[in-house]
Amino acid sequence: MLGIGVVGAGGKMGRQVCLAVSGQSDMQLVALVDPRLAASVLSGVESLPDTDLSAVTVVEDIDQLAASHRAAKPCDVVVDFSVAQAAVRTMRWCADNDVHAVVGTSGLSEESLSEMSVAFSSSRANCIVAPNFAIGAVLMMRVGELLAPHMEGAEIVELHHDGKLDAPSGTAIASATRLAQVRAQRGLSPWPADRTTSEPIPGSRGAAGPGGVRLHSVRLPGLVAHQEIIFGAQGQSLSIRHDAYDRSSFMPGVLLAIRAVSQRGGLTVGLDGILGLDSPSPQSEAL
Ligand SMILES: NC(=O)c1ccc[n+]([C@@H]2O[C@H](COP(=O)([O-])OP(=O)(O)OC[C@H]3O[C@@H](n4cnc5c(N)ncnc54)[C@H](O)[C@@H]3O)[C@@H](O)[C@H]2O)c1
Repeated sequence: MLGIGVVGAGGKMGRQVCLAVSGQSDMQLVALVDPRLAASVLSGVESLPDTDLSAVTVVEDIDQLAASHRAAKPCDVVVDFSVAQAAVRTMRWCADNDVHAVVGTSGLSEESLSEMSVAFSSSRANCIVAPNFAIGAVLMMRVGELLAPHMEGAEIVELHHDGKLDAPSGTAIASATRLAQVRAQRGLSPWPADRTTSEPIPGSRGAAGPGGVRLHSVRLPGLVAHQEIIFGAQGQSLSIRHDAYDRSSFMPGVLLAIRAVSQRGGLTVGLDGILGLDSPSPQSEAL
């Protein structure tokens, strides 16, 4: 039975994780960490199926878990959906206490990821960080890599609920980066720069992302998380689109990562390897 701690347990994603974990026969919710939760005592997570909340440790801060961690049923895996600053502290705590970490919080810097790579390489615990736990979105990025060498241009439209504060989304940036990287790995030139010379309303052509791939962000009530990659070539276009209709779409990926993390060495970024989608190197493809 895997003991699971959830950091950011009072948030929208954290609550989904609590629900998802409480429905698994091989997992037990053992700790909830969230300053909001401790203050409002489990509002929104009181009615978790198959979970005795009196046996769950509830604390405001990951450092408060250290003392109870040894006393109560320990966490085997801590899942973090909080804010970037807190997620870095969660990962440090996990590396120091030999507890596996699964992190979905967005906005982690390259510096933080490098620091965590070092921290988990000398820990007995491992960490999986995924910018997107929706398996369909992971597949969309991989399919995009397969298409990029064969098409003559691509633009990305990402669409999210109007409560999202950052733009473009992390998934859109990651998608553009991967399209540009796969072309560079194949020795192909970047796609031609945008030829627009007049833009009376600034921003009409979106923003130039990695590799010059144009990124367009839509924010509207009613939307959840959606992305379309539109490829163009002579006389044709090809679009791939992913739609997440609610936050439960992320849970199969989160549960997959919880079950896989003990088998991954050190820090893993993304779910591709766990899904068997690692990009073949250009050399191995050529053989
Ligand atoms: N990787 C993915 O697939 C994926 C999917 C959706 C959202 N996200 C990301 O997950 C994160 C959370 O999203 P959300 O919609 O649940 O946000 P939210 O605002 O609803 O919840 C965040 C929670 O974190 C808590 N928190 C803040 N500081 C904390 C601390 N020091 N310790 C513990 N908890 C703390 C807050 O009190 C809040 O309850 C965001 O970064 C979001 O971008 C990732």
